[in-house]
Amino acid sequence: MSHILVTGGAGFIGANFVLNWLAQAGADSVVNVDKLTYAGNLKTLASLDGDARHIFSRSDICDRAALDSLLKQYRPRAVLHFAAESHVDRSIHGPADFIETNIVGTFTLLEAVRAYYADLGDAEKAAFRFLHVSTDEVFGSLGPTDPQFTEATAYAPNSPYSASKAASDHLVRAYHHTYGLPVLTTNCSNNYGPYHFPEKLIPLMITNALNGKPLPVYGDGLNVRDWLYVGDHCSAIREVLARGVPGETYNVGGWNEKTNLDVVHTLCDLLDELQPKAAGSYRDQIAFVKDRPGHDRRYAIDAGKLERELGWKPAETFETGLRKTVQWYLSHQSWVEDVISGDYRNWVAKQYAA
Ligand code: NAD
Ligand code: TYD
Repeated sequence: MSHILVTGGAGFIGANFVLNWLAQAGADSVVNVDKLTYAGNLKTLASLDGDARHIFSRSDICDRAALDSLLKQYRPRAVLHFAAESHVDRSIHGPADFIETNIVGTFTLLEAVRAYYADLGDAEKAAFRFLHVSTDEVFGSLGPTDPQFTEATAYAPNSPYSASKAASDHLVRAYHHTYGLPVLTTNCSNNYGPYHFPEKLIPLMITNALNGKPLPVYGDGLNVRDWLYVGDHCSAIREVLARGVPGETYNVGGWNEKTNLDVVHTLCDLLDELQPKAAGSYRDQIAFVKDRPGHDRRYAIDAGKLERELGWKPAETFETGLRKTVQWYLSHQSWVEDVISGDYRNWVAKQYAA
C-alpha cells in the first residue's frame, strides 16, 4: 500500500486536504502528523474514524526521532508540509512558537526527509516529492496600483508569521539547491471554507454575528486580501504534487481581491438572507477597532503560472464559495462550539480587550 505523509493534517487546510484526498478513488493512504495545538482538531476528521487509509500520529515536527520512525515505517512517496503556527495576530503577541514550529520544525522535517530520501532506490527517488505549503504573505504588502505578486516577486515579509514562513521557504529552496531534494513550494492567498478556526476573519465574523457580538473590523477596513476557497487550494496542491517541476514555486490564488469591509458586508448580507435576525441587519453589529500593528495593506496573487503550466483554475467564485461557507457554518454550529475551548476564550479576551 502506498502512503503520503501530511503534516498539520488536523488544521484547517490540512484537514480539508486529507478529506479531499481520501475521497479520490485509489488514493494513497495518509500518515497524518499533527501536534494538535489549539488549531488542530480531530473532530474535523471524525468521518475517517475506522478508515485504515488514515493513520494519525500525534507528533511534533520538531521531534526528529518521531519523524524518522514514521518515515521508516510507512515509506511515503511524498511529504506534504502544512503544519505551522498560522495566525498573524498571535505572532504579534508571541512570536516564539512561530520561530519554533515554522523555522525549527521545517528544518527538522527537512533533515529527516533528507536522510530518508538518501536511502531510497533510484525509482523511489525519481518519484519522491516534498511539497511545502506556504503563503503569499512572504511577499509583503502591495500599494493600491502595484501589480500582483508573481513567483519572481522579491520576499519582504512584515509580520513574525510571514517572516517565519519566508525563512521556511528559503530552507526548502536550499535543500533543493544544495542536496537535490525534489521540493515543490506553493504560495497561496487567504483561504476560507469549512473547518476554519474562528479566530480568522471570515469564521470569526460568522460566529460573532450569530452570537450577537460586535464584528471587529481593524483600522479603516480597507485592507485588501485575495480570497480562495479551501477546496480550490487543495486541488491546486494535488496538481502541483502530480505535475509540478521540482525546485519550482507556484503562486495559488482565486483572483478575488476584496477589502475586509466588502467581505464583512457580504457575510452580513448572506446571513440576513439565510438566518435573518428578529430585527435589523447583521451589519448593525460592525465595530471598527484598533488596527493591527504593521498591518499589510494589500495582498494580490497572479496565479497565471499555475494556470498556464498545469492547467489549474479555481472551481469556486468568491460568491459561490462564501455562500457555501456560510451555509456550512450554519449547519455545523456544534463543530464551532467544540473548538471554542477555554484557551480560545482567553485569546479573544486578550486580543479584543481594547
Ligand atoms: P492551522 O493553524 O489551521 O493548522 C495548523 C496545524 O498544524 C494544526 O493542526 C496544528 O495542530 C498543527 N501544528 C502546529 N504546530 C505543529 C508542530 N510543531 N508539529 C506538528 N503539527 C503542528 O493552519 P492552516 O490555516 O490550515 O494553514 C496550513 C498551512 O497553510 C500553513 O503552513 C500556512 O502557513 C499555510 N497557508 C495558510 C493560509 C490560510 O489562509 N489559512 C493561506 C496560505 C498558506
Ligand atoms: P486574517 O484572517 O487574520 O488573515 P491574514 O492576516 O493572514 O490575512 O485577517 C484577514 C484580514 O482581516 C486582515 O486584513 C486582518 C483583518 N481582520 C479584522 O479586520 N478583524 C479581525 O478580527 C481579524 C481576525 C482580522
